[in-house]
Amino acid sequence: MDLKLKDKVVLITGATGGIGQAVSKAFLEEGAKVALTSTAQEKLDKLMAELGNPSEDRAIGLVVDVTDEDAVKAAIDKTVEHFGSLYSVVPNAGYNGDWQEVKDATAENYQKVFDINVYGVLYVMKHAIPYLLENGSGSIVVLGSEGSYEGSPGMGAYVASKHAVAAIVKTAATEVGEKGIHCNFVAPSAVDTDMMRRIEKNTFGDTKTPEEAERFFADASWDKRYARVEEVAACCLYLASEVSAHIMGWGIRLDGGKHIL
Ligand SMILES: NC(=O)c1ccc[n+]([C@@H]2O[C@H](COP(=O)([O-])OP(=O)(O)OC[C@H]3O[C@@H](n4cnc5c(N)ncnc54)[C@H](OP(=O)(O)O)[C@@H]3O)[C@@H](O)[C@H]2O)c1
Repeated sequence: MDLKLKDKVVLITGATGGIGQAVSKAFLEEGAKVALTSTAQEKLDKLMAELGNPSEDRAIGLVVDVTDEDAVKAAIDKTVEHFGSLYSVVPNAGYNGDWQEVKDATAENYQKVFDINVYGVLYVMKHAIPYLLENGSGSIVVLGSEGSYEGSPGMGAYVASKHAVAAIVKTAATEVGEKGIHCNFVAPSAVDTDMMRRIEKNTFGDTKTPEEAERFFADASWDKRYARVEEVAACCLYLASEVSAHIMGWGIRLDGGKHIL
């Protein structure tokens, strides 16, 4: 299927993370032009090397802390200045936070998680939308989560943040849908990345081996495994492309059928 992403300009935040790298690679392979963000230049240099050092007319790296609205705006402006337009954004940068039951919740933990997972996403959407409207067609694909629908013990800040971004996506979809922009989110359960390693450790400490912890989470899915980053990336490509233009304000669950029961 031709997703018609060739030469389309896409900005991906958190591009050096597990999912971000796979998403960056997938868009490049479709012929898109990508602006990739990270909090550190060294991580961007490593990512570019892993992507085969694409030329600057295919990929640029931008150091951005997504909690800094001015920095997010500057990165989006720079992307358009460099490539000439913007077709899609994938606000992917995220943080799992500390393991805390609600009775022990700290404002600091909630604030840090919300700063990255909610405000960080909101800033990208806010400053990208005027360019997407200028373009006349395009998309927003947010990395939500199973936590956009469900609760999870000890993960209150994270699941609250992912419910919040799902709400922002649905709201934005109603505002930009009639102007040619489709706005959706991807909702994976466990994905095989460093974030999941941290969640395993936060949940079980030293009471389970890494293998036992993975088995515990993976066994909740019908296929008894974590999602692969390539599967999440494929979902992002689909939701970014015109092929899915009639899907708006929706989340695609990548959870091995876990939601069924
Ligand atoms: N892994 C899972 O099981 C899973 C499941 C559902 C949803 N998700 C969501 O998928 C997204 C990617 O997760 P992942 O598994 O790929 O995690 P990851 O490997 O830990 O990567 C997280 C990325 O977020 C970036 N980031 C963190 N704080 C940032 C900040 N203040 N400003 C800019 N970037 C920041 C990091 O950038 P630097 O490395 O440059 O610091 C990193 O690239 C997240 O939104 C996550 O919530 C993950």
